[in-house]
Amino acid sequence: PAIAPMKLSNLPENSFVKALAESSTLNSVPSQFSFANDSRGSHSDSIPIVDFSLLASDNPDQRAKVLGTLTMPLVNHGIPDSLLKAIIDASLEYFELPEADKRRYEAKSASDPIKSGSGSVINAANHRVHLWRDFVKSYVHPQFHCPDKPQKLRKVLAEFSEKTRSVLRKLLQDIGENLGLEKGYIDDTLKLDSCFQLYAANYYPPCPQPDQAIGIPAHTDHGLLTFLIHNGVAGLQIQHDGKWFNTNSPQNSILVNTADHLEIFSNGRYKSVRHRAVVNSEATRISVVMANGAAPDAIVRPAEPLVEQDGRPFYQPMKFIEYVETMLSNRLEGKSNLDCIKIQQD
Ligand code: SIN
Ligand code: FE2
Repeated sequence: PAIAPMKLSNLPENSFVKALAESSTLNSVPSQFSFANDSRGSHSDSIPIVDFSLLASDNPDQRAKVLGTLTMPLVNHGIPDSLLKAIIDASLEYFELPEADKRRYEAKSASDPIKSGSGSVINAANHRVHLWRDFVKSYVHPQFHCPDKPQKLRKVLAEFSEKTRSVLRKLLQDIGENLGLEKGYIDDTLKLDSCFQLYAANYYPPCPQPDQAIGIPAHTDHGLLTFLIHNGVAGLQIQHDGKWFNTNSPQNSILVNTADHLEIFSNGRYKSVRHRAVVNSEATRISVVMANGAAPDAIVRPAEPLVEQDGRPFYQPMKFIEYVETMLSNRLEGKSNLDCIKIQQD
């Protein structure tokens, strides 16, 4: 059904963009979505692809090379292609549910384990800007939560959570070694048996004026490592040396991004990757994100042996789940939680 312009002017905070984009009358972006974009990024083939099996190499230099990169599309990760496809399909089915089913998960508080909506940010000029994307988020570990529909989501998501956890443990084990930490140090201090996992699926419908809107503005993620897959439609950009780069990960790879808590834990040796999602006028993009962190109650601080090497910590300690929930309720564009806990040098 067509949406009258009248209604657009008081678009509710948590309305879904899918329905708006499907309105036959829509040929420009409503002003509430207007987002001043800097340059849209350049194509780049320079992001190296990482073969997960290289991590088993006997050569420490080879392993270090793998782990030194900012953003890595992982191949040979051991997660079956069929499972990657199943989680994308089930996520798409979620977005295709009637609105009433999705409205059940409108967030009332930052600690709600399941949330769904479209979301907005407050920009530098203090205006609220709606984002060109719908989302669903669910805490899946150490406690498993999942929307009731579509029915198939529960099983697929539980399996995806389990499989991604084992990839996470292996990557972190090698990262620990790369940082010169004792075996088991990361597992013990961050209590990885109870690691926090947040599933998020994003739905970006085609946008009549992609330069005038944004899917997700620039940010870094909470957690240690974020895993990301998509339905083959491009849209994720990462910032490097002040420039934006398109990411082009091969089919069935998992894009791994360094997130805030690995920067904190490594006392700044690994840097959290700034990224954003841009939209396009052609095709619907779906991404599925698994954010992987420390145990909810773990206090994350720079690793002691690294602090000793550096002479001091560069970040303040903070309980993991508090960091996540502060971030989920913080709607300021460009403001990072990481900036708040960084200890400035005097
Ligand atoms: C995100 O930053 O959480 C999602 C990015 C994407 O959709 O690729
Ligand atoms: Fe992100």
